[in-house]
Amino acid sequence: MTTAQRRELIARAVAAKETSYSPYSRFRVGAAVLTDDGNIFDGCNVENASYGLAICAERNAIFRMAHAGHRSLVAVAVTSDHTSFITPCGACRQVIAEFAAKGTVVLLVSAKGRVKRVPFERIFPTPPDLASLKK
Ligand code: THU
Repeated sequence: MTTAQRRELIARAVAAKETSYSPYSRFRVGAAVLTDDGNIFDGCNVENASYGLAICAERNAIFRMAHAGHRSLVAVAVTSDHTSFITPCGACRQVIAEFAAKGTVVLLVSAKGRVKRVPFERIFPTPPDLASLKK
């Protein structure tokens, strides 16, 4: 990932937060993913009156990526309105693992713009063996 791509990825995650639909938690989240061929897809969290149906920003970004035909991501950025970092939930880690290239990084971005770079394999060290499951 180039410096320009990293900047753009973070900017897109921050902008995506603005369209968060989170009237129940009031917890706005924005995310963006960078594909192996340099495309960026963003997403926000979208909640529902049936609370359990809320979908995270990360998954929305990844599903948009998949819908556009991309199958490999190299970086994920996630941000909220909090001064501390938030990290992808377990379900999102599983979905990231489906498309994560070797060496994928997660950029945790605080509301103040501080950035923490974490290797994806550190927060999801034992992914399922996708190769053996694919038909
Ligand atoms: N949420 C995300 O979108 N991403 C995360 O990484 C953490 C949680 C959303 C789900 C829900 O809409 C709200 O934040 C509170 O959990």
